[in-house]
Amino acid sequence: IPASEYQAEAATLSQASVATNHTGYTGSGFVDYVNAVGGSIEWSVNVAEAGGHTLTFRYANGTTVTRPMDIAVNGVTTGMSFPGTGSWDTWADSRVTVDLNAGVNTVRATATSSDGGPNVDRLSV
Ligand code: GCU
Ligand code: CA
Repeated sequence: IPASEYQAEAATLSQASVATNHTGYTGSGFVDYVNAVGGSIEWSVNVAEAGGHTLTFRYANGTTVTRPMDIAVNGVTTGMSFPGTGSWDTWADSRVTVDLNAGVNTVRATATSSDGGPNVDRLSV
């Protein structure tokens, strides 16, 4: 089954905004979190089959400090870390496997450190 791609710039944003000031993103831009706890990106994700699915976040972190986020899937939270990628123009994938319902699911990525989240390009499911 090919992965479905959900661009960050098409999601619902809080304390985060669409940006294009670095290279290598897909779609029409990426999302830049403010440097604070609590910014979020929220996607509606549709899958045909209930059960375990891998969420792949494509992100960049041009610092040497890991930027953790809480990934809430239908309200159930998993912590993920987003280590440095070497530059803001270098993108990497970070993955987690979660249980999804058949049909629409809510996936929210919330920054949990005062640095804010990494820049996020997209979520693939
Ligand atoms: C820089 C960079 C941004 C990034 C920000 C940050 O300003 O250009 O893309 O989001 O640092 O530290 O979060
Ligand atoms: Ca930022």
